[in-house]
Amino acid sequence: MPRPKRTRAGKAVQQAAPPLKVAMIASECVPFAKTGGLADVVGALPKVLRAMGHDVIVIMPLYGMINRERFDLRLFLAPMGVWMGDGQEWCAVHTTTVDGVPVFFIESDKYFARPGLYHDADYNDYQDNPRRFGFLTRAGLQLCIDMGFRPDIVHAHDWQTALAAAYLKIWHWDHPVLGGAASVLTIHNIAYQGVYDASNYPYLGLQWGNFTSDKFEDHGRINFLKGGIQYADMINTVSPTYANETRTPEGGYGLAMYLNDRGSAYRGILNGVDYQQWNPETDSLIPARYSARDMSGKAICKRELQLRLGLDLDPNVPVVGVVSRLVHQKGLDLLAGAIEGLVQQALVQFVILGSGDKGLEGFYGRLPGRYPGRIGSFIGYNDELAHWIEAGSDFFVMPSRYEPCGLNQIYSLRYGTLPIVRATGGLEDTVQQYDEQSGTGTGFKFYESSVHAVYYTTGWAISTYFDRPHHMQQMIHTAMAQDYSWERSAQEYVLLYREALARKRGS
Ligand code: ADP
Ligand code: GLC
Repeated sequence: MPRPKRTRAGKAVQQAAPPLKVAMIASECVPFAKTGGLADVVGALPKVLRAMGHDVIVIMPLYGMINRERFDLRLFLAPMGVWMGDGQEWCAVHTTTVDGVPVFFIESDKYFARPGLYHDADYNDYQDNPRRFGFLTRAGLQLCIDMGFRPDIVHAHDWQTALAAAYLKIWHWDHPVLGGAASVLTIHNIAYQGVYDASNYPYLGLQWGNFTSDKFEDHGRINFLKGGIQYADMINTVSPTYANETRTPEGGYGLAMYLNDRGSAYRGILNGVDYQQWNPETDSLIPARYSARDMSGKAICKRELQLRLGLDLDPNVPVVGVVSRLVHQKGLDLLAGAIEGLVQQALVQFVILGSGDKGLEGFYGRLPGRYPGRIGSFIGYNDELAHWIEAGSDFFVMPSRYEPCGLNQIYSLRYGTLPIVRATGGLEDTVQQYDEQSGTGTGFKFYESSVHAVYYTTGWAISTYFDRPHHMQQMIHTAMAQDYSWERSAQEYVLLYREALARKRGS
């Protein structure tokens, strides 16, 4: 902490803490490459930190799908040598600036010139993922050295870059550029740990002495996230409730014990949302703009959504939206068990946008044929349609088994689209339960992870739509007034960074 200065009158004045230099190394970042909310976070947080006066850079892979012309990428450095465990490898670095944030792209055809980020079109993980992301992480640190960027903080995200914390302590602890850097690891999803065959270990250059059960070793394999948890100066996840859940055996996916060992070095910081991207008053992707004062645009968005997805054009039928990765975590198999009963029993329409599990893709892809005018779906990834669904639906359903933060329910609040959610992780922290007596709340929550719970809670929302429209109005107003902008969360990250530095200096 800076020392207090004294004025002439002898009064102590707290000196402003100096701005921080932060190198963020991540596997995805909006607007360049995205599979989920991680990209939204890495796209938004640096912008806000820079606006607060901090010097933040982002380092990510130059994936084959990134459009170099569109984003005005320029060659920054070539060649750049990166020492891996079995020798030096070469790459190039490109750069561009987005909203004032310098972003650097590691170009390695061997590792990143492929269409997918993590897997091929059939969802088979690329076999060399441990090498790809180990390389990205070391290259990110090497770039700091080569460009003379002396970070106070290296901020890693998820297993893909978790090793940054270890490299700083194992290799760079006394380096003139990196020796002062503390590390922060953000866990966006603890179920993905980066567990790979130990034959990859030598390549990563982490030294066999560290292949122990308290560091990288996990039942004979290497676990990236576990290593990151051991080495990071501070660790966080993306909501307070998920921080608590991951400290338990069922929520921690085998890592609870290690997180608990880190004590107060582990905490939850709720994600913010980027209201420049997700705000019905300014959203250029949706058919019409609207605000809590004038909701007429939302009615247009609903009509256009119904038209686009072949639903009956009826303003008085509630529309329930889904935008999601179709994976076990998201519980859309539970909705699959409830959706047909709901359309048969109630006056309701569904729109589903998602991709992932082939069985669920087939199921949701076929539903419009079976319930024409009642269910619309689009299997794939479509950013514009995601905005249309947020704007044009009345409800947004997320039956997640677990949800570290979840962004879509927060977007939904701002779009006046009431969330129907399982009360877990960030969903619990951001949605307030509807109270039937007073009409307070911002959504509909259930606790049990079952078809039954999805069915009856969605039914509860539908009956509220028809039977208590005044409560709907009240909730929509409350929901749209919620403020989850990044500024507050970014301030918590700055505190986390300063604590990481203090711990690093203390050690
Ligand atoms: P997760 O990161 O676990 O997928 P989040 O709710 O944090 O969940 O973030 C998901 C993000 O990805 C949101 O911005 C959402 O709009 C977007 N998204 C997910 N699936 C699709 C899709 N099929 N098409 C467009 N956007 C999608
Ligand atoms: C992960 C989580 C999601 C979270 C996102 C961004 O993908 O599944 O809940 O919102 O990361 O932190």
